[in-house]
Amino acid sequence: MRIETVAVHAAFSVDPSTGAVAPPLHLSTTFGRDEAGIPLSPHTYVRESNPTQDLLEEALAALDGGEAALVFGSGMAAGLAVAQALPPGSHVVLPEDVYYGYRVAARDFFPAWGLGATFAPLHRPGGLAEALRPGTRLVWLESPSNPLLRITDLAASAAAAKEAGAIVLVDSTFATPVLQRPIELGADVVLHATTKGMGGHSDVQGGALVFARKGELLEKVRHVRTILGAVSSPFNSWLVLRGLRTLAVRARVQSESALAIAAALAAHPAVSRVNYPGLASHPGHETARRQMSAFGSMISFHVAGGREAAIAAVGGTRLFTRATSLGGVESLIEHRATSEGKDSTAPPDLVRLSIGLEHPDDLVADLVQALEA
Ligand SMILES: Cc1ncc(COP(=O)(O)O)c(C=O)c1O
Repeated sequence: MRIETVAVHAAFSVDPSTGAVAPPLHLSTTFGRDEAGIPLSPHTYVRESNPTQDLLEEALAALDGGEAALVFGSGMAAGLAVAQALPPGSHVVLPEDVYYGYRVAARDFFPAWGLGATFAPLHRPGGLAEALRPGTRLVWLESPSNPLLRITDLAASAAAAKEAGAIVLVDSTFATPVLQRPIELGADVVLHATTKGMGGHSDVQGGALVFARKGELLEKVRHVRTILGAVSSPFNSWLVLRGLRTLAVRARVQSESALAIAAALAAHPAVSRVNYPGLASHPGHETARRQMSAFGSMISFHVAGGREAAIAAVGGTRLFTRATSLGGVESLIEHRATSEGKDSTAPPDLVRLSIGLEHPDDLVADLVQALEA
């Protein structure tokens, strides 16, 4: 089945008792038992599992082609549950431009968990090989990366990491399973901040891990989630499931628009560089063409006039909404270093865009007037 069909039909059924076509939202925190104390269903308590979350996990596993999925209260909670499942003494390799929240987490929490971290240019051939150590248990990849839109060769990196005996995690938030399927390229776990494109409407927070295989890693991470408690609420699970149904069409339209906008920005004299993997000038373009079916809704670009000019361009837009986050129906713009705050390593002249569902001509016109104001 094609991904568009999977997005609509995964975990879909008509409720036999009511005939309802939309999935039920079960808010119950607890679930009954019979006279002998045997649970009446697979569920006993909401932190362990609940029927709405089950539907979302089934759909997510189908979309990424994994055997199982676990959903969490945020993308941060999802990714860090994998780190928390590692034995103390483990070494983790992360991209040097990993999403800044994980960089801060590695700095502030890994030492207390007994984990070592190396940040390396994993988008470069040989970057991973230099960072691997005998104790490397986890190789963390992010492609396209946030906010530089770097592309990492997922198949080559996964093969090298596996040879070293490490688990391979791919943060595929920018791509979504519509555009990229890391498990087919060798990933053991795919990470999504479902707060972004999967939710799709800027109204729900969540995270997900899709596991290539059931087994020890899945059960260790499930234990982290159940006991440390970073679960998704039933309503948030329901909202993400609802978002998934239109994900394929949104991802395709947003990718088409983003390509047109990136090309227009690249031709503008006030812009010194555009980071968009769909442009032939992007250093990762050929790799992106191999591992993605389209290039996604995210663009970043450098403003020729530097930091102040970048802030002024963001301030001058009328149609773009000035806010962080991504993957919604409304286009967003931000001066990335300002959004990330004191721990930012984003270049000072960098503007990040999340392209929504408006017409690309209107978005280009807005950017041009802001750059020329
Ligand atoms: C690539 C990427 N991964 C993970 C996250 C974290 O997701 P959340 O904010 O839901 O914790 C983000 C958030 O922006 C992100 O951009």
